[in-house]
Amino acid sequence: MSEHNDVSIKKTEYSKDRTKAEKPIKIMDLTLRDGHQSLFATRGRTEDMIPVAEMMDEVGFWATETWGGATFDTMHRFLNEDPWERIRTLKRYFKKTPFSMLLRAQNLVGYRNYADDLAKAFVERAVENGMDVFRTFDALNDYRNFETVVPVIKESGTHFQGCICYTLTEPRLGGDVYNLDYFVKKAKELDAMGADSICLKDMAGLMAPYDAFNIITAIKKEVSAPLHLHTHFTSGMAAMTHLKAIEAGVEILDTCMAPYAYRTSHPAIEPLVMSLLGTNKDTGFDIKLLASINEILEKEILPKYRHLLDDTKVSIIDINVLLHQTPGGMLSNLVNQLREMDALDKIDEVYAELPKVRKDLGQIPLVTPTSQIVGIQTVNNVLFDDENERYKMITGQVKDLCYGLYGKTAVPINSELQKKALKGYPKGEVPITCRPAEVLDPELPKAKEEIKGLAVDIDDEILYAMFPVTGKKFLKWKYGKEEAPESVKARSLDQALTEQKLIEKVRAGKLVDKPEKDVPEKSDAARTFKVFVDDDYFDIGVEEVGGSPVVSYIQQPQIPVAASPAPVASAPAPAPAPAPTPAPAPTATPAPAPTATPAAAPADGTGVKAPMPGMIIEYTKKIGDTIEKGDTAVLLEAMKMENALVAPVSGKIVAINYKSGDSVAKDDVLCVIG
Ligand code: CO
Repeated sequence: MSEHNDVSIKKTEYSKDRTKAEKPIKIMDLTLRDGHQSLFATRGRTEDMIPVAEMMDEVGFWATETWGGATFDTMHRFLNEDPWERIRTLKRYFKKTPFSMLLRAQNLVGYRNYADDLAKAFVERAVENGMDVFRTFDALNDYRNFETVVPVIKESGTHFQGCICYTLTEPRLGGDVYNLDYFVKKAKELDAMGADSICLKDMAGLMAPYDAFNIITAIKKEVSAPLHLHTHFTSGMAAMTHLKAIEAGVEILDTCMAPYAYRTSHPAIEPLVMSLLGTNKDTGFDIKLLASINEILEKEILPKYRHLLDDTKVSIIDINVLLHQTPGGMLSNLVNQLREMDALDKIDEVYAELPKVRKDLGQIPLVTPTSQIVGIQTVNNVLFDDENERYKMITGQVKDLCYGLYGKTAVPINSELQKKALKGYPKGEVPITCRPAEVLDPELPKAKEEIKGLAVDIDDEILYAMFPVTGKKFLKWKYGKEEAPESVKARSLDQALTEQKLIEKVRAGKLVDKPEKDVPEKSDAARTFKVFVDDDYFDIGVEEVGGSPVVSYIQQPQIPVAASPAPVASAPAPAPAPAPTPAPAPTATPAPAPTATPAAAPADGTGVKAPMPGMIIEYTKKIGDTIEKGDTAVLLEAMKMENALVAPVSGKIVAINYKSGDSVAKDDVLCVIG
C-alpha cells in the first residue's frame, strides 16, 4: 500500500462551506513575524498589521506567529516601537487565533544565554502580555538550555512547542553528525520534556522532500506529540517538502500570505489550500478571504516595504544555499558586512573558510545566534588573518562559545582554538561542562538598579536587561527624554509611492531636470548619503537649515592635549565634535592616527581604530587611565557580535572620541593612547 493513499480526494467543489476534512492539515501563519523578518529585515510595523488582523483572525489558522525571533530587537532599535505593546495591540484584533512566538530558549530573543532570573521573568511577562504558543529552540540543540523556560511555559498552561534545529554538514541528510538517528533522538528528548508539539525547524530551507518524508516517518514511530514543520523557501524545495511531509503524516505546517511568501521566506498558503482542496487533509480555508487579505497587503502595506526587498536578482531562489548549506539570511549578512568593509571581492574566500570555522567550533547548527557567530568569525578570519596567525581577531561570542556559555556543541571544539580563545577570558581559562546558566549571576537586580528613574515597569526593565545600550536609548524616546531620530519614524504610503515614482524615473533615465535656483554653499554640516538605484548611485548632501549641526554629545573636555586655546566643551556647544550620532560623520572620516577633530588640536599618540563599521558598546578605560598593549580598550558591536579592540601599544588614554551607543565607520579613531 502506498503512503499516498493517506491523501484521498473526496470532494472537489470549491466553497467555504465544503465538508470538513477528516484530518485537516493545521496551518500556522508566519506573515506577521518570520515573513517580514525573512523578506523585509523584520521591519514590519504594528500599524501595518492592524488593517488585516481581523480578517486573518477569520481564516482558521492553528496559530499566527506575531512575536519573538528578531522582532523584539528590531522594534525597539529601528522602529521606536515597544515590543510588548505589539502583543497587546494585536490581541485586540485577533480574538480567536492563538499567538505564537519564537523563543530562543535561554537566549530569549537576544544573542546570548541570559541568567535564569531574567529568562523566567521574560517568559512570565510574555504569557501575561498574551502569548499562547512558545516555539522554543536552542541554537545548539542542547536542551539543558530549555530547563529554565519550559517549566514556566508549562505552569502557565500555554503550549510548549519544542524545536529541533535542522542542519546538515552534507548536501543531504546523513553523515556522522546530523543523520536520521540524531533527529529521532532529539525528538525523543523533547517528548520526554513534555512537548505539546515538536517542530522540525529548517531555518535555511535545507530539508529535501524525501529527507522530510524519512525523518517524519521515523519520528512518528517513536513519539506521539504532533509534528510541525518549519521550512524556508530559500533553496526552492519547501513546497515540495511540504507535500512529502503531509504524506508522511505531519500535522502542522508553516506558511505565509502570498505577498510575504517565497524567496527567503516560506511557501504561500494559497497554493497549498488549492492542492489539498477536497482531500481528507483539506485545510478548510476560504480562498476568497485569503485573496481579499492579499489585496490589502499588496496595495496598502507592501509599497512601504518594497525598498527593503532584495530585488537585485531575477531568480527567487538562492543556489548558494544548495551549495553551502548555510541560511540565506546569514549569507546576505555576510555579503553586507563585506560590502561595508569594501571587501566584496573576498566572498569566495568566505565561502571556503566558513565550513572550516564551523568545524573548528564543533559543527554547530547555523541558526541565530550561531549563524552570526560563525559568519562574523569567518569574515574576521578572511579579513584579518595572515600566513603567520589564524583567528587573529576572535569575537567575544566565539570566546563565550569556547567557554561553554552557549552549551554543548555537536562535536568537540578544536582544542587549539579553544585554548587561544580562552586566554585571559574573564570567567576563567577552563571551559565549563555544566548547563550554561548555572555560571551566570542573576541579572535583573543589577539592571533594575541601573535603569531606575527611566524604566516604569518590569517590561521596561527586562527590555533594558536584554539590550542595555539600544534598550536605554529606546526608553529615552519612549518617555520623551530624547527625541527619536528621523530614521526610526514610519514611512507613509504617500512617501513610499512618491519615492517609488522617483526611482522609476531614474531607471527610465528621465531624471534630468536641473534646479533653477542658486545652489547655496555647502557647509561642513552637510552629511552625504549614498542613494543606490540598481548598480547606479547618487551622492545626496543633506544639511539642516539654520547652520551648525546639532551636536548631541560633546566628548571629554580634555581631548586637546597639545597647547592651544582649547574649545570649551562643558555644555552642548557648536564645536565640531568627533561624531554627532548616529552615522559616520564627515568630521570623523578615515584619517591616519592620531586624530581627534580638525578643530581641536590632535591628541598625540596612537589611535585605536575601528576595523569595521559598528556601534560602541563601551570603553574599558577613562581618560588618564593606563592601558597595557594587548588589553581591551573598546568593545565594538558589529553585526550584533561583540569585538574586543585591543590597545596596539601601552600608555595612557589621552582621548576618547565617542560614547556608548555611537555608530562609527571603519577606520574611525575611537580613542588615542599617548
Ligand atoms: Co524561520
